[in-house]
Amino acid sequence: MRRALITGITGQDGSYLAEFLLAQNYEVHGVIRRASTFNTQRIDHLYHDPHDAGRRLFLHYGDLTDTGVLTALIDKIQPDEVYHLAAQTHVKVSFQMPEYTGQVTGLGTTRILEAIRQVHRPIRFYQASSSEMFGSSPAPQHEHTPFHPRSPYAAAKAYAYWMTINYREAYGVFACNGILFNHESPRRGETFVTRKITRALASMRLGKQKKLYLGNLETKRDWGFAPEYVELMWRMLQMDCPDDYVIGTGQSNTVRAFVEKAFAYAGITLAWVGSGVQERAIINNFTSDWKPYFKLGDCVIEVDSRYFRPSEVEHLQADASKAHSLLGWQPRVTFDELIAIMVDYDFKYLGIDSPGQGITICKVKDFSYTNHDFTLQQQDDRDMS
Ligand code: NAP
Ligand code: GDD
Repeated sequence: MRRALITGITGQDGSYLAEFLLAQNYEVHGVIRRASTFNTQRIDHLYHDPHDAGRRLFLHYGDLTDTGVLTALIDKIQPDEVYHLAAQTHVKVSFQMPEYTGQVTGLGTTRILEAIRQVHRPIRFYQASSSEMFGSSPAPQHEHTPFHPRSPYAAAKAYAYWMTINYREAYGVFACNGILFNHESPRRGETFVTRKITRALASMRLGKQKKLYLGNLETKRDWGFAPEYVELMWRMLQMDCPDDYVIGTGQSNTVRAFVEKAFAYAGITLAWVGSGVQERAIINNFTSDWKPYFKLGDCVIEVDSRYFRPSEVEHLQADASKAHSLLGWQPRVTFDELIAIMVDYDFKYLGIDSPGQGITICKVKDFSYTNHDFTLQQQDDRDMS
């Protein structure tokens, strides 16, 4: 049985990757952080009591700032593959916490690479690199596009990217960079723009929220579906030689387009009025189920400069030709389908009837390991002490 160690197992990607690897019959070990509240909601459905026989998921406390623990864990677990996904992942937050972001998102990778080097075992290593590293380089971006980081997060990721290559070249570590463009899902963190929008819609539909405040509406992102992307992390580590790959759909859309389509899917047509920080969206038309809480002409979106970044990445769009030919991958979920999946989930989560197209898409395209997203999970007791 192959053994994998995942850092960031409690995050969006870590949780999907854990499901995928368990389905491939791996023994999966995950590093989690001590928190005063449960931070394992995304993997609760995979959890087995430590006393259960035959369990294949094991959780260990650790932190990317703690070299001793990381080294001891790798030495103890002796994994065949390490998927290093943990990071301070929020770009806007990285401007507020630049040094911490460097410590965790940058140096965290070096700590793990060094631990791998010291165990003298052929461990395969995946580094969660990011399209943010391309920053202001013109789109479409591919493996040879120069980096121009535009945030402390992106600068930290660029450092980690080069450390990964350095350990490959200097010490022969089987180390790969997956340069992933934005990927979303029902498990996306609530403060990233896509999930912020779909959650707000659901809460508006219950009459609990009247307005959504957003930042820059013009930036373009290449948004894909996270469960597809974690499978590619695994594929990279199954290749004969270590290499770096860009992963993205090749389609880029503005934040404004995401908002319009999400609202339209839920039954609201928006009209934009004003410009710049004065711009807002009002309801132009809606289906009858919105009537208890809104009327035509109500303002539902406003721009708030609080969400602007000191320096912005304007346009990300992947040229993933290399992944198409070498990893045999073509994106399966479209932009419209992604929106449907996320809106359906947030509606269902709050007990509201959803249009349902997203749920059907997951079934038809056989994303079996997303099924539990549409089944409300009960938080169970666990003993991690
Ligand atoms: P995420 O949902 O924000 O998850 C981040 C994970 O890192 C969480 O499990 C978090 O633990 C953990 N973590 C944060 N700081 C840590 C620390 N000091 N020590 C140990 N663990 C720590 O991120 P994601 O979207 O799954 O992304 C996974 C990786 O891919 C990240 O490295 C991200 O930068 C990279 N990436 C993501 C995208 C994307 O669009 N999603 C695109 C390109 C690259 P808690 O749960 O306790 O907070
Ligand atoms: N978060 C957020 N909140 N972003 C907003 C908002 C808002 O209210 N309004 C507009 N935006 C814009 C941001 O300025 C950015 O241009 C875009 O929406 C996407 O922002 P995020 O969803 O926060 O993601 P990101 O692109 O900055 O970073 C994500 O993708 C990277 C890959 O390119 C993160 O997952 C990173 O960890 C990842 O590396």
